[in-house]
Amino acid sequence: MMRLDRFLCESGFGTRSEVKMLLKKGLVTVNGEKAKRPEQKIDENADMVFCCGQKAQYAALIYKMLYKPTGVVSATEDRREKTVLELLNTEECRGIFPVGRLDKDTEGLLLLTNDGELAHRLLAPKKHVDKIYYAEISGKVTEEHRIQFLKGLDIGEKKPTLPARLEILESRERSKVRITVHEGKYHQIKRMFDAVGCKVVYLKRLSMGTLVLDPSLKAGEYRNLTEEEIKSLKELN
Ligand code: URA
Repeated sequence: MMRLDRFLCESGFGTRSEVKMLLKKGLVTVNGEKAKRPEQKIDENADMVFCCGQKAQYAALIYKMLYKPTGVVSATEDRREKTVLELLNTEECRGIFPVGRLDKDTEGLLLLTNDGELAHRLLAPKKHVDKIYYAEISGKVTEEHRIQFLKGLDIGEKKPTLPARLEILESRERSKVRITVHEGKYHQIKRMFDAVGCKVVYLKRLSMGTLVLDPSLKAGEYRNLTEEEIKSLKELN
């Protein structure tokens, strides 16, 4: 038995608040009866639930951590390029999608799930979920850069970037850094380095919120999240 609103979210009808709205509008029936209460308990294996005229098919939630290799795109479909879903077995990727995007030439942690509500929360700009990247930069990265990143940079958006933590691991012709950002703008890291006259030559995402790339995974490998990892992601903010 489970709550009707959770059942509808997990069957792909939207976030908790979107589903509540559908219930309020009288667009949901359980065994032919109009259902309006999100907290109504239903038997996900026996009850017939219809939403907007469509039968709701309960899908178990899937959460996978992928070590995205370079050369594949973070999309579910692409006419020309190989997608991250093509790295999975066909039966495993039904209904799942990547949470956010990494560029084709970026590697590292990518969460794949069919949990639309969690994805929505992790990506919501207001939630400021931390993302940590390891990057290699052509040229020297200096203390001055570290301060500029902390103050916020003009990357051509309406507002400067939020303060970002730049740790300089090695400063030489090809520098090594670790950077923590609290937002996820398009090409964010590359644009931040561009803004200070530097070029990213290698980029790898190490973590997203509480989820850390498993060091035992090789590029292209993936595994299911543990119960503990799912729980801590759900508890974020
Ligand atoms: N920032 C980038 O520039 N690229 C990525 O893939 C992720 C963050």
